[in-house]
Amino acid sequence: MSRTPVLPDGWTLVAFDSVGSTNDEARRLAEAGAAEGTFVWARKQTDGRGRRGRRWISPVGNLYCSIVLRPACVAARAAELGFAAALSVADLVPPRRDLRLKWPNDVLVDGGKIGGILPETSIGENGLVDYVVLGIGVNVALAPELPEMRYPGAKLGGSVEKAAERLTAALARWLARWRREGFEEIRRCWLDKAGPLGAEVDVRLGEELVHGRFAGMDGEGALLLETSDGRRRIVSGELLGRAA
Ligand code: BTN
Repeated sequence: MSRTPVLPDGWTLVAFDSVGSTNDEARRLAEAGAAEGTFVWARKQTDGRGRRGRRWISPVGNLYCSIVLRPACVAARAAELGFAAALSVADLVPPRRDLRLKWPNDVLVDGGKIGGILPETSIGENGLVDYVVLGIGVNVALAPELPEMRYPGAKLGGSVEKAAERLTAALARWLARWRREGFEEIRRCWLDKAGPLGAEVDVRLGEELVHGRFAGMDGEGALLLETSDGRRRIVSGELLGRAA
């Protein structure tokens, strides 16, 4: 017997059996004025999108959702919300499993990817964020393997409805913390669950592949990498390998 998830107070559920991409639906709703906490959820997606133009295979059994946020912050701070989302997905993972957050927003469990975040931001004419859509995919019942994916899939287990309820409750808590205490607190908690400082990593920057040691994340969400040419600050790129 299927049921719909119960959301935190003030959130609104928009549920679909099947949709192209919940991010596209959420953006349409946000453009039409949807309020913060609008939670678009689909049992499957026919055109799920991942970061960097990748597909997100979305059969029935996993969690696909997009949340409309209206943080009224400057554009540069919008990316901070992706880290809060990754921490919320991390909260779903039982302590006995090996959890690792990977820059910017991947959630790995036992070496496999269990969840991904696709934040999409719209900036108003005043230069402030009009809305952020936080697209979140979590492997609950299935661990789809994709040829272009850098890790094997992993899954959480349990029901998709329960995962949605726990995820929204966790996200409400992390968002409240972000508003109250700022990004520094999110950064500290994220780093706590990221790979060890000094771990060797490769980062793809377009055509360039940079090798270095993970040196943390700065107060603007940029990846810090210690390379043979000195410290580099990476705003957008793709981390390869499992550390950090
Ligand atoms: C990633 O590449 O790691 C990000 C994956 C994000 C997938 C989610 S599923 C719900 C939402 N709708 C989409 O089309 N993508 C995001």
